[in-house]
Amino acid sequence: MYSEKVMDHFMNPRNVGEIENASGVGTVGNAKCGDIMRIFLDIDEEGIIRDVKFKTFGCGAAVATSSMATELVKGKSIQEAMQITNKAVMDALDGLPSVKVHCSLLAEEAIHAALWDYATKNGIVIEGLEQPKSDISEHEEDEEY
Ligand code: FES
Repeated sequence: MYSEKVMDHFMNPRNVGEIENASGVGTVGNAKCGDIMRIFLDIDEEGIIRDVKFKTFGCGAAVATSSMATELVKGKSIQEAMQITNKAVMDALDGLPSVKVHCSLLAEEAIHAALWDYATKNGIVIEGLEQPKSDISEHEEDEEY
């Protein structure tokens, strides 16, 4: 039911941990399943994501998608990171079972929340970024399953 890539990122998640004095930190949860994710971004003066770490209190699919999402945003510009949707993360993992699609939203939203935190601290506006919700289950109905 899970692809080999999902199993690999679940068993050996990349970029687990915290960044001290991170440029941006984002925490989101899904009140329906109770899972929580926190993303730390280290962004340099050029707006490049130098480092990224995550912590997840969540299911295996949430761990695997966060791991892949952090791999995809590392070394990218803020605008490039904005293009990394949960669908891009799922594609990179060779798919997720449909009941687990919502788990991939945690990673996308946590990255957006961390970028929002960075933008707020630095008084900048990131094109296309809206203030993230701390509980993503509120707008789950909009997503396809
Ligand atoms: Fe909640 Fe997967 S079941 S994130």
